[in-house]
Amino acid sequence: MKVLGFVGSPRSGGNTATLVGQVIAGAKEAGASVEVVHIPSLEISGCKGCKYCKSHETCRIDDDMQALYSKIREADVLIFGTPVYFAQMTGQMKQFVDRLYALIDADYKPRLSPGKKAAVVLTQGDDNVKAFTGIADTFSFAMSFFQIPVSDPIIAGGLDAPKDIEKNNTAMDGAFQLGKRLASH
Ligand SMILES: Cc1cc2nc3c(=O)[nH]c(=O)nc-3n(C[C@H](O)[C@H](O)[C@H](O)COP(=O)(O)O)c2cc1C
Repeated sequence: MKVLGFVGSPRSGGNTATLVGQVIAGAKEAGASVEVVHIPSLEISGCKGCKYCKSHETCRIDDDMQALYSKIREADVLIFGTPVYFAQMTGQMKQFVDRLYALIDADYKPRLSPGKKAAVVLTQGDDNVKAFTGIADTFSFAMSFFQIPVSDPIIAGGLDAPKDIEKNNTAMDGAFQLGKRLASH
């Protein structure tokens, strides 16, 4: 069982990285092999809409996404973590998500093996954890092309300073338990 986490916050060591880290820690305790990718540290261009990937097996852009395609193919569980930026996922995370288009063939069939699972982790300043659930819906929409079911999101609000999340026991524990569950069955 391989669990692969993606952190879409440019602030390494911030709330999103910590909360994704909790999911990963739970998965590790359940026996999974784990890896976390910090998306903003990588060179990932935006999709050019050229559709090269619809007549070839992969994307023509030669950047860090090529290595991520391999990692995604090998993973059993994908964790997507992003802070809310102006009611959306971060731009870096969106560029990464758009590039997943290359994993869908010309008939909109997945180029990934079946049986994977996914989860979403959102962090935000707003105390209302229902304010930006549309972001989780966007990940579910993207994953539907791969027939990957997405667990109920972990959403933590009221966050500003990088370590604020450590005071939110409910989110921290919920993320850990989610990781355990995802890696257990
Ligand atoms: C550019 C920017 C835009 C933001 N927009 C929102 C927003 O629309 N709604 C919100 O609730 N929080 C917003 N926030 C707050 C962050 O989502 C929140 O502090 C988050 O926990 C930061 O995650 P990090 O510690 O991983 O960087 C914004 C923060 C930044 C820097």
